[in-house]
Amino acid sequence: MEHPVDSIIKNREEIEKIIRSAGQFMKSHPPQITEVHRKEGLTNFVTDEDVQIQKKLMEELKNLFLCCNFYGEEDTQGNDKDGRKGLCFFIDPIDGTTNFIFGYNHSCVSVGAGYDGQMIAGFVYDPYVELFYSAVRGYGTVLNGIKLQIRNSSLAEGIVSFGCARYNNEGDTDALFQIMKELYLGSLSVREGGSAALDICRVASGANVVYLELKLNPYDYAAASVIVEEAGGVISQVDGLPITMDRPCSILAGTQKATEEVRSICARYLRKK
Ligand code: IPD
Ligand code: CA
Ligand code: CA
Repeated sequence: MEHPVDSIIKNREEIEKIIRSAGQFMKSHPPQITEVHRKEGLTNFVTDEDVQIQKKLMEELKNLFLCCNFYGEEDTQGNDKDGRKGLCFFIDPIDGTTNFIFGYNHSCVSVGAGYDGQMIAGFVYDPYVELFYSAVRGYGTVLNGIKLQIRNSSLAEGIVSFGCARYNNEGDTDALFQIMKELYLGSLSVREGGSAALDICRVASGANVVYLELKLNPYDYAAASVIVEEAGGVISQVDGLPITMDRPCSILAGTQKATEEVRSICARYLRKK
């Protein structure tokens, strides 16, 4: 049997073409307010474009890889229930839906490929500024074709980015903002960009020294996790445990030095679960 990484490499150009076309679709379909629907939880929106893009990605990837599973944000019925077995694509059709709805022009299409639960490739495309991050395990990360390599900066040397979705806070709001106050005082500045995938990719490009969010879903970080690791960065849960691909978890991505610093700050504020 062909090694799954080889099969991604062989089809890389085609995968990137599919994702690029999905991103262009997002860019050329600004949502009408009447098309916005609410999902479970406060401020958790979905647009017709989220659903259409996911459907399109699933169809086209299925044509390319006849035998593959999916774990997507919007089409939960089509999701692989069996521990992400075999080749599985983790799809976030629009990461940054709230930005998309309000015309921020800061959203992306995010597609990660896993094999038996281990991430092997990641593709994140922002059509608004034409940034395409792409990584295959063992082959490095490229941004618009240029190889990325992270410098091991400390917290004090960089910008900290974080996520705070209202529907995901689960009572940790005070702890998060206490942590963020310390990170603000200990770094160059802080940002909340509204697209976790893009903000984790910005760790890979060196724009952010750290990304922190207390709860994300696998489709939010699947692609970006490979992108950050292949660029020489690290990604784990805030307490240092490995990220999970079958359920939500907290995310701390960044340089080796900065993530160690942030982990010890978080430990002082977060209660054990
Ligand atoms: C959200 C974005 C946001 C993050 C949230 C995610 P969505 O994804 O990545 O930046 O803070 O936790 O749910 O809903 O726009 O795909
Ligand atoms: Ca998302
Ligand atoms: Ca989404």
